[in-house]
Amino acid sequence: MIRDLILKNRSYRRFYQEVSIEFATLRELVDLARLSASAGNVQPLKYILSCNPKKNALIFPHLAWAGYLKDWPGPCEGERPSAYIIIVGDTEIGQSFGCDHGIVAQSILLGATEKGLGGCMIGSIQREGLREVLKIPERYKILLVLALGRPRETVVIETVGPNGDIKYWRDSEGVHHVPKRPLNDIILDES
Ligand SMILES: Cc1cc2nc3c(=O)[nH]c(=O)nc-3n(C[C@H](O)[C@H](O)[C@H](O)COP(=O)(O)O)c2cc1C
Repeated sequence: MIRDLILKNRSYRRFYQEVSIEFATLRELVDLARLSASAGNVQPLKYILSCNPKKNALIFPHLAWAGYLKDWPGPCEGERPSAYIIIVGDTEIGQSFGCDHGIVAQSILLGATEKGLGGCMIGSIQREGLREVLKIPERYKILLVLALGRPRETVVIETVGPNGDIKYWRDSEGVHHVPKRPLNDIILDES
C-alpha cells in the first residue's frame, strides 16, 4: 500500500483550478507535518496556508515550474494550484533546518495523495518577491512551497536508459514522463 501511494504521489503541475481545497484540509496536512521526524526534535518549521484565489494569485508569479520543459511557462489560468502550503524555518527556533523541510513536504504530499489531491514541491522560488507580497517577516526563512490541487495530468514513471538522461519530458498527448534510475544502479553494497 505504501508503494501504491508513493507511485501515485508524483509531482503534478497542472490542476483543476476550480476544485477548491478547504483550510481544514490544509490544516490536516500540516498536522501530518507536525507529527513527522525533526533533527534533534527542534521542530523549527512553520507554515503559511493559502486556499483563496486572491492569495493564490499573489503566490503563483514567484514560482518556477518544470525547468526541463523549456517551452512550457507553467500552468495556465484554469490549471493552476488551488492551494499552497509555504514551509518556512523560524530562525528564532533554529538556524539550520537540515532536511526537515524535505521530510514534512513528503508527509504532506503523501497525505494529499491519499485524499485524491496532488501537488509539487517548488524550491525554485523568487523568495524576496514572495516575502514582500505576503509580508513574511525576515525572521522566517522561506524553504519550500508546496503547490496543491486536484491533478489534471497523467504522470508515468520510466527507467533511465543507458545514456543516463534523467530529464523528464512531456509527450504529444501531454503525458508527463519521469525517468528513475534502476534499483541495481543505486544500491552500492548489499553484501
Ligand atoms: C527539493 C525539491 C525541489 C523542487 N523544486 C521544483 C521546482 O522549483 N519546480 C518544479 O516544477 N518542480 C520542482 N521539484 C519537483 C521535481 O522536479 C520532481 O520531484 C522530479 O521531476 C521527479 O518527479 P516526481 O516527483 O514525479 O518523482 C522539486 C522537487 C524537490 C524534491
